[in-house]
Amino acid sequence: MPIVFHEKSRDFHIYNDYISYVIEVMENGMLKNVYYGKRIHDRDDFSYQSNDGFLMHGVCSVDGGLALQHQRQEYPACGIGDFRESAFLLRQENGSHVSRFEYSTHTIYEGKKPLEGLPATYVEKKSEATSIDIVMYDHVTDTNLVLTYTIYEALPVITRSARFEQKGDCKVVLEKALSACVDFPDKDFEMIHLSGAWGRERQIKVRKLEEGVSAIGSIRGASSAEHNPFIALKRPHTTEFSGEVYGFSFVYSGNFLGEVEVTPHDITRVIMGINPFNFKWPLNKGESFQTPEVVMVYSDTGLNGMSQTFHTLYASRLVRGTWRDKERPILINNWEATYFDFDEGKILNIASKAREAGVELFVLDDGWYGERNIDDRSLGDWYPNKKKLPEGISGLSKKVEALGLKFGIWIEPEMANKNSDLYRAHPDWILSTPDRYESMCRTQHTLDYSRKEVVDYIFGLLDKLISESKITYIKWDMNRYMSEVYSRTASAEMQGTIMHKYILGVYSLYERLTSKYPEILFESCASGGARFDPGMLYYAPQTWSSDDTDAIERLKIQYGTSLVYPLRSAGAHVSAVPNHQVGRVTPIDTRANVAFYGAFGYELDLNKLSDEELAQVKKQIEFYKEYRKLFQFGKFYRILSPYEGNETSWIVVNEDKSEAIAGYYQTLNKVNGSWLKVKLEGIDSDKLYDVTYDDFTYKMYGSEIMRIGIPVDRKYLNKKAGDFASILIHLKA
Ligand code: DGJ
Repeated sequence: MPIVFHEKSRDFHIYNDYISYVIEVMENGMLKNVYYGKRIHDRDDFSYQSNDGFLMHGVCSVDGGLALQHQRQEYPACGIGDFRESAFLLRQENGSHVSRFEYSTHTIYEGKKPLEGLPATYVEKKSEATSIDIVMYDHVTDTNLVLTYTIYEALPVITRSARFEQKGDCKVVLEKALSACVDFPDKDFEMIHLSGAWGRERQIKVRKLEEGVSAIGSIRGASSAEHNPFIALKRPHTTEFSGEVYGFSFVYSGNFLGEVEVTPHDITRVIMGINPFNFKWPLNKGESFQTPEVVMVYSDTGLNGMSQTFHTLYASRLVRGTWRDKERPILINNWEATYFDFDEGKILNIASKAREAGVELFVLDDGWYGERNIDDRSLGDWYPNKKKLPEGISGLSKKVEALGLKFGIWIEPEMANKNSDLYRAHPDWILSTPDRYESMCRTQHTLDYSRKEVVDYIFGLLDKLISESKITYIKWDMNRYMSEVYSRTASAEMQGTIMHKYILGVYSLYERLTSKYPEILFESCASGGARFDPGMLYYAPQTWSSDDTDAIERLKIQYGTSLVYPLRSAGAHVSAVPNHQVGRVTPIDTRANVAFYGAFGYELDLNKLSDEELAQVKKQIEFYKEYRKLFQFGKFYRILSPYEGNETSWIVVNEDKSEAIAGYYQTLNKVNGSWLKVKLEGIDSDKLYDVTYDDFTYKMYGSEIMRIGIPVDRKYLNKKAGDFASILIHLKA
């Protein structure tokens, strides 16, 4: 069992071959964190490791001795002398915010339990992981707090969550319930996060930690484009390939908080969970609240080591269903080709050209329903616009299938326009506060998914749509953040539950649709990549990365995304030039060379390409089909970062390192430059590889490729494209 409890010292040691996590029950029953990091030896007693809980001037002490302010704690309470950010706040009926949970009991078991109604990592065999529930008890409120930890046997991963169970008659309200806290004994870290905005999601940001709080989060009702629910703490010298890093990823799609606090005594606290903003969860006798899960990854092989662990775990034990292990289809999406301006003829024209080029799936985007010719109407009316599509979705899907393509469709089921049949029939179904202005975003409003009848109604419409047509793929979009959050049917005291219940409603609809239609491939989307989070991946194996399809912009977006998310989860398409978002003109091979490192597809009308370009597209598709398995299931290494210079490179390598494909990209051309030596990583030093890019071939040992580099004449790149030139390098042992 990789979780042991040493009875005498009351130490828990959670470990596998890679990592150790040590918790101690202190004399006063509270939990202290002793160690988290690379695997250490087990021993009966770690209590000699003082956490400096001594009394100093200006500190409060619990039990006349222990100063919580200096303790490294597991799940800290507020109001009892620890003046840092707490992990939770439980308010009593008398208004008190003070609570004190003490160790009561624990259970260690094989495997991992699902979290009811919530996405979470899982096991297929019990032997893959061991878990522990540590039960803490607050005798004043008669509340249990269950802290759950799971350690995966074969990965440096620990997952954590917390559950509050109200046992007694005392009525309490949870005003904050985070999922995890880790206190590190030093502050020698830099914090990494993925922040951005629409069109430039998941940009890598690094900052040195100093005393005080560094926080990211969302109060937008979605995990957001602004901050991804992910934080990593790395040592200052840590690189892509070496050094320590601790990653924290939150399996949730709504409001979140990720915060790092450094104290003047150099303790670093990381907390992560549901954002306490507008969160109040009453608990009556017999009721409980389960937090979502935080996934913690440790790596001492740099950032690539951390990312590869996240990729393995998320691709195989978070993503579920038919599509988890299947190669993903090459799709074409009509959004940038037509926007709202299409009819059946135009669509079939795009689809048949795509089929001719070798595309496998056609996706009909926004504009097919109600009176949707402009974005101010019809959201909520999920029945086809017969003027555009005389035979409806059913007829169109059959015609697309007859062309030899699979058919997919776009929906945005969480929204309504006021100009819709849905809103006219149910004006109280949107989130809005009585007597207040209802802010609009893209002229639309958020449906109140905290209400079951709303979710049921939408399920009914989608169920009908899917069952009547030949749909094999669904792009589920969500194009506005929440404001004036208020549910018209909830009581005053339940209004603080709405933002979380909304997300539970979204998850429940996903669960119903994915279990009724297990063959459908779902791709989540939110104004591009504003809800690219692990919670979504549990239901939708792919996420549309960004509305910015420019190849050069995508280098940064995909590089950042890959910190946590596997390549095959990130939708990446070749689009037209000048690019619709930034107006940039990049070569068509560079557009594909970037998009190959994702769930690959096209987002343009191939009829509008020249014969020469179309021939290139055909070759791209042939190439991708040949190497799709490698791109989608290989091990990915980032090598040169677009955040640090003019060049980007990365590589995917197969399991036995006999084959790999690297991408090398230059942003701007360099005049009068020397030959490039493109150094790669992740391959076998001792293997002799055939190295090929474009018309160039070499025979090189892995050691040469990694240490000297593959020669590339800059004059060739100059001639090939100049700015935005790229090459794909194929290695075959
Ligand atoms: C936002 C998405 O990111 C786009 O790809 C497209 O589906 C539009 N919404 C449609 O409204």
